[in-house]
Amino acid sequence: MQMSSTAQQSRPGKLAPIPSIHHAAYRCRDAEQTRWFYEDVLGMPLVAAIINEKPAGRTEEIPYLHLFFGLGDGNTIAFFDEPEGATAEQFERIGGFDRHVAFLVDTEEELVAWQKRIQAAGVSCHGPIDHGIVKSIYMYDPNGLQTEICIRAPGYGSAMAQEQKVAVDNIRKWDARTRATKERKFGREALARRTAQPSQKQKKS
Ligand SMILES: [Fe+2]
Repeated sequence: MQMSSTAQQSRPGKLAPIPSIHHAAYRCRDAEQTRWFYEDVLGMPLVAAIINEKPAGRTEEIPYLHLFFGLGDGNTIAFFDEPEGATAEQFERIGGFDRHVAFLVDTEEELVAWQKRIQAAGVSCHGPIDHGIVKSIYMYDPNGLQTEICIRAPGYGSAMAQEQKVAVDNIRKWDARTRATKERKFGREALARRTAQPSQKQKKS
């Protein structure tokens, strides 16, 4: 794929592109509840459940369990079970715009078979929804995380190549359309910032 001018500017020296995600990590309410969903329902083997007494780089003891479930490519999805810092609100369903994770399968037959298996386990699973470039089924895990299983549509490669040609231009168009709203909500300084916003919680403590 051809890189956008933005990507070319930000690409470090001679480093090869980062090839894949090693893990994405989320908070879970309960390790066994989470194991049931990812291992028994989605068929991802539990590959590690590591008990730690303190997070890396911290001095205070915050015991937590770090869970990893394996995917077919050897990569993982991970969870933290850390009850002391957990609140019930953290496990309410979060909208897909805010956070979701999508897993990839190869064929439409597999997609439909997964949907049947998920529904047979008593988990509501809707779709398949045809997004043009992918077709997807959706469900929530027991932690309120929206999870998606998708397939690439036929012609995915050429469709994405087309999308990439107009991607930078689309950001410009979108910026022109939404800039005023975002400046009103977040301020120019926040939009210009290239580092994360300082935590309001940390400021108060
Ligand atoms: Fe998605």
